[in-house]
Amino acid sequence: MTPELSNEELILSFLAEGGDDFVSGATLSDKLGLSRTAVWKHVETLRRLGYRIDAQPARGYRLLEVPDRLTALELSPLLATRELGRTLHAFDSVASTNGTAFTLAQEGAFHGEVVVAETQTEGRGRRGRAWVSPSGKNLYCSVVLRPELPPARAPEITLVTAVALAETLGELNVDARIKWPNDVQLGGRKVAGVLTELSADAERVHFVVVGVGVNLNSVQGDLPADLKDTAISVFEARGAPVPRALFTAALLATLERWLDVWTNEGFAPIRAAWRAKCSTLGQRVRVKNERDELVGIAEDVDDTGALLVRVGDRLERVLAGDVETLRPAPQ
Ligand code: BTN
Repeated sequence: MTPELSNEELILSFLAEGGDDFVSGATLSDKLGLSRTAVWKHVETLRRLGYRIDAQPARGYRLLEVPDRLTALELSPLLATRELGRTLHAFDSVASTNGTAFTLAQEGAFHGEVVVAETQTEGRGRRGRAWVSPSGKNLYCSVVLRPELPPARAPEITLVTAVALAETLGELNVDARIKWPNDVQLGGRKVAGVLTELSADAERVHFVVVGVGVNLNSVQGDLPADLKDTAISVFEARGAPVPRALFTAALLATLERWLDVWTNEGFAPIRAAWRAKCSTLGQRVRVKNERDELVGIAEDVDDTGALLVRVGDRLERVLAGDVETLRPAPQ
C-alpha cells in the first residue's frame, strides 16, 4: 500500500533529489501539474513548517535546511524503501511505539507500517526494563512485519535488525559493535537496542513488531544518572548531531535490504554479518537469565542465533539473557 504523497511531500522529494542545485519553478509545476503560483504557495507552507528554501527568480528553488522532526513530511521524501515506512504513523508522544504498532497490527496494519514518536512515556526495553526516551532527540521506531514464519524463527528478526542498525550507524563513521543478542554499542557503551514482540499461534507468526531505540542526539543530562557510564549517543561519540529523518530513512532502507537477504537466503548470511560485527565472541562472559547464571568463553552463535558458551569441556547453548564481559581468567 503506497499512500498518495501530498504536494508538499512531492516538492520536498524533488528538491531533495536536486541536492545543492536549484529546481526550476517550471519543472516543479510540470511535475505536479500545478500552476507556478500554486507551487509558490506550497513552498510558503513548507517555510512556515520550518523548512529553509532558497528561492531565486531566474533559477528556482533549493532546499537549504530540513527541520529536525520525524513526520511523514520529513521522512517520506527521503524514503528509498519498497514497503517499510511507506505508511507512517508519527506521534508527538505515545506510551510505547511498540505498543501502538502492536495495536495497529491487531487491527490489520500491513507489513511495513511504521510508528515513530518524538517521545515515549513508557518506552520498553528487553526483559521488562524501561527505555528512557527524551523528547525530540533520539529515534523511537517500531515496524510491523508479517513474515511467513514458524514462531521459533522469530528471534532471527532481532539479529537481522541489529545487523541493519550496526551497518547504518557505521555510515556515520562510528564503529558500532553488537553485544549478544542485540545491544548495539559504541566503545562498549549502549547506543541502540531492539525489542521484538510477537503475535503467533503454534504453527505460524501472525505478525512481528520490531522496535528500535537509537540514542542519536541525547546528552548525559537527558538520561538518568545510573545510565551515565553504560549509555552513549552518536552525537556524543562523533561530536556532530545526526539528522534524525535522514538516519531513519537510511535505517529503514538497510533493514529492508537485510530482511530481503534473510527471506531469500535464510539465516546463514545474517549470522555471518552478525558475527563480523559482534564484540562478544572470544570474550570471557557472565550470562544471567531468570533461570541460571554461567561464566565461560563466548565461542560462537549457532544457526538459530543462540550463544554458545564454553564452560570447561561443556558447550552451553544460551537462548536468552544478559551478557557481561569479564576480564580474562587468571592463568
Ligand atoms: C533493549 O532493551 O535493548 C531494547 C530497547 C528497545 C527500545 C525501543 S524504542 C522504540 C520501541 N518502543 C519501545 O517501547 N521499545 C522499543
